[in-house]
Amino acid sequence: MSPATNVVVQSAYLVATALFVFSLHWMNDPRTARRGVRAGVAAMLLAVAATWFQPQIVHHGWIVAAVVAGIVVGVPLSRVPLTAVPQRTALSHAFGGLAAGLVGTAKYYLWLAEDPGQLTAFRMGAIVAEVLLGFITLTGSLMAAGKLQELRWIPQRPVTYPYQNVSNIGLLALAVLLGVGLIVWPTGAFAAVAFPLVVVLALAFGVLLVIPIGGADMPTVISILNSYAGLSAVAMGFVLDNKLLITAGALDGSSGLILSIIMCRAMNRSFTNVLFGAFGKVQPAAAGKDDRVYKAETIEGAAQVLEQASFVVIVPGYGMAVAQAQHRVRELYQELQKRGITVKFAIHPVAGRMPGHMNVLLAEADIPYADLVEMDEINRDMPQCDVALVIGANDVVNPAARYDKTTPIYGMPIIDADKARTVFAIKRSKNPGFAGIDNELYFQDKTFMLFGDAKAVVGELVKHLASQRNAG
Ligand code: TAP
Repeated sequence: MSPATNVVVQSAYLVATALFVFSLHWMNDPRTARRGVRAGVAAMLLAVAATWFQPQIVHHGWIVAAVVAGIVVGVPLSRVPLTAVPQRTALSHAFGGLAAGLVGTAKYYLWLAEDPGQLTAFRMGAIVAEVLLGFITLTGSLMAAGKLQELRWIPQRPVTYPYQNVSNIGLLALAVLLGVGLIVWPTGAFAAVAFPLVVVLALAFGVLLVIPIGGADMPTVISILNSYAGLSAVAMGFVLDNKLLITAGALDGSSGLILSIIMCRAMNRSFTNVLFGAFGKVQPAAAGKDDRVYKAETIEGAAQVLEQASFVVIVPGYGMAVAQAQHRVRELYQELQKRGITVKFAIHPVAGRMPGHMNVLLAEADIPYADLVEMDEINRDMPQCDVALVIGANDVVNPAARYDKTTPIYGMPIIDADKARTVFAIKRSKNPGFAGIDNELYFQDKTFMLFGDAKAVVGELVKHLASQRNAG
């Protein structure tokens, strides 16, 4: 590459790296998230163009074919409904892992055939890391996507067997040992057997890592696999001597890791538990045994109380997402605002089934970001709240998390809905939520249930409030 071309390419990489950093920063806030997405797209375009521009790229036909294949797969993936975004994300990680694994394998055999002297210890270390992480990400992400999509032939429940962790760790240790062997003896009879074995062990470990984890816990696993995909891209950057891959992969790897830690903390799960795939075994036995009674309320009764409130906090959860009730919720929000009532939304970090689930749904329904309030902030105001309206949320408002050490959610921070003067809770049945335990909140004197589908119940409330307003 001529010095001038090199300057152009490296400068483009620098700008792309900066755009990736800004993209992540802007995605931190719903107000700037769109800008963040555009910056990410621009960075990726620049990265592909700058790489393509390099004179050593001579087989342009292959690149065109790869771009076309990417578009054919990517466009339908971009159109999936919001509830399917976790599995869509898992599929993207699987593609990233596959790319890293294949590039590492191709580079190894290419150097082995053409110039084995290139297989230095450093390069072999990078190739082994890339291949291991890439193929683990591939099968792990495919399993996670399959569980989330509820494919019939992949069990949703955690599949466990005796000595599972020991055998999984043993398998990974064997793959790592063989990898170390490859660094020492990159060519010859040992390498001829060890390299394919590392690939097979990595593919198997990806599957075994994910099967002990229940379908609903997959979002946490996906963000861990996200960080593996990023780390494999870092290794790929070292193999290909490409600085942009190293920086972009490091951003991807660290952001995935940070997100997994945030999710684990918000769910009060230990990070090591997640890494060793030994969580998600919820005990539903605790649920449904309670013979205390729920108090139900009518739409008219609830509407009357809401009309008299001056401060209402809506707590959305997974049920609102399932019912796709967000547009009805916006109508309710407007109906209450027309009466001069202050309405805020309490956003729990793990409400729903993926990070930012509630923010995305409510933003889609044009609810102003200023009224979406994070858990710690809204909890300060809950004692002044007249009505807490819980819509399809369960675990994230369960006061048992504060004191009941026997529940799986003990220690998980919650939205203090129980501190409001009156609580209305919309859900379809007496069934528990994700953690499989009864909710203390529903049995309190101040709590009234509005049983039914969230979209239907909120729709009825809106209809009633609107007709009252028109009559008045
Ligand atoms: P959940 O505890 O799962 O409760 C959701 C409630 O919605 C259920 O009790 C269900 O009761 C109700 N529901 C379901 N469909 C409904 C519909 N169509 N209409 C009305 N209600 C409906 O949800 P949450 O409070 O949002 O808590 C989230 C849970 O997921 C936490 O335990 C969290 O740890 C876990 N989790 C979250 C994440 C992320 S990143 N968000 C990742 C992994 C796990 P009925 O069946 O009676 O209607």
